[in-house]
Amino acid sequence: MRTTPALLAALLLTAPAAGQADLLARARAALKPIPARPPALAGNPASAARVELGRMLFFDRRLSASQLISCNGCHDLGLGGADLQETSVGHGWQRGPRNAPTVLNAVFNVAQFWDGRAADLAAQAKGPLQASVEMSNSPERIVETLRSIPGYAPLFRAAFPGVADPITFDAVARALELFEATLLTPGAPVDRFLAGDRAALGPTERAGLSVFLDKGCVSCHDGVNVGGGGYFPFGVVEAPPDAIRPPGDTGRFQVTHSTDDRYVFRAPSLRNVALTGPYFHSGRVRSLEEAVRIMGSSQLGVALGPEEVTQVTAFLGALTGRQPRIEYPILPAGSGATPPPQLEVPPARPAP
Ligand code: HEC
Ligand code: HEC
Repeated sequence: MRTTPALLAALLLTAPAAGQADLLARARAALKPIPARPPALAGNPASAARVELGRMLFFDRRLSASQLISCNGCHDLGLGGADLQETSVGHGWQRGPRNAPTVLNAVFNVAQFWDGRAADLAAQAKGPLQASVEMSNSPERIVETLRSIPGYAPLFRAAFPGVADPITFDAVARALELFEATLLTPGAPVDRFLAGDRAALGPTERAGLSVFLDKGCVSCHDGVNVGGGGYFPFGVVEAPPDAIRPPGDTGRFQVTHSTDDRYVFRAPSLRNVALTGPYFHSGRVRSLEEAVRIMGSSQLGVALGPEEVTQVTAFLGALTGRQPRIEYPILPAGSGATPPPQLEVPPARPAP
């Protein structure tokens, strides 16, 4: 075939489109959009009353011993569901060992926490309520507190109909789980691109997506949450410096006690990652560019150039979706029977 100028022009015109179609196809094979509706939860049927109760509990700081710290205190829904801190500060100003991951879209993670030690959101919620460095409360005292607040009784009855004594620690966890499952961020530019709107991503973001797919970031950060689906060593190729991966936190090893799991962590979801710094389980990296560079060297053994880092960071920014608009609940007043705030710091006990 003879290449005529007309044919050449036609080829040049179609080449970028073909490249884009290819990019879209490759992206669709690896990444899935955030659904508009929450998934059904095993053993926790959805109802408006239960979600509503979960929303109230999420904001109610009387669930903490000090009555100062609500779930929202560390998972601020106005700030991407995180807390801006390197590692969280909880009861009695104590600093916990890890950075708070966002609660947004957490329902799509394979398991909860950086080391996956909680199977689902209901199991997870029982952790911070009791952890001495977080809310430092006991299941008994939480139930006693909620029973002492007259306005909660009808809300629990509506959320758990047909149960004789609906205010239980388990019910608290299940209501929180159901509310958290509604905290989704659909409609990110990347999701609109996946739906076929090619203009949803600009050229830099598309270049970043291409790098993300070609260099292999996607082998650990894929699916609906662009991560959150599996466990990998932090330092597959090159161990990050101790300042970023503190030697004392061996991650999943602390759960499984298998030497293969030393410094293994769940690959976090990269959804809304531009909003949820600082980064890594240690929270030691403030800049997203820096986090991208570290991932290149630690996980893939590649030194990403400055332009690639800019492109990938732009792509990650396009993973920011529509933030859920949550109405701040007005909470029922306590009574004379409500236990007073406890500010003392009890002796440390291991996280449940
Ligand atoms: C003092 C701060 C603090 C409070 C209060 C707190 N959390 Fe967390 N949350 C954290 C930290 C830190 C982690 C990560 C801990 C780890 O991985 O070991 C976490 C993890 C989570 C996760 C797991 C997310 C994921 O991707 O793995 C969920 C869900 C969550 N918290 C929900 C809640 C709920 C619900 C409450 C209220 C009952 C709550 N948190 C209270 C700091 C807090
Ligand atoms: C082999 C699996 C693997 C590969 C490949 C990989 N990552 Fe990660 N990524 C992880 C794990 C595990 C973590 C959590 C590390 C930690 O904090 O312990 C992580 C954390 C991150 C974070 C921090 C997120 C947060 O909320 O703190 C970003 C950003 C990130 N990865 C982006 C990338 C990019 C960009 C690439 C490609 C250059 C990449 N990752 C390649 C497994 C991987």
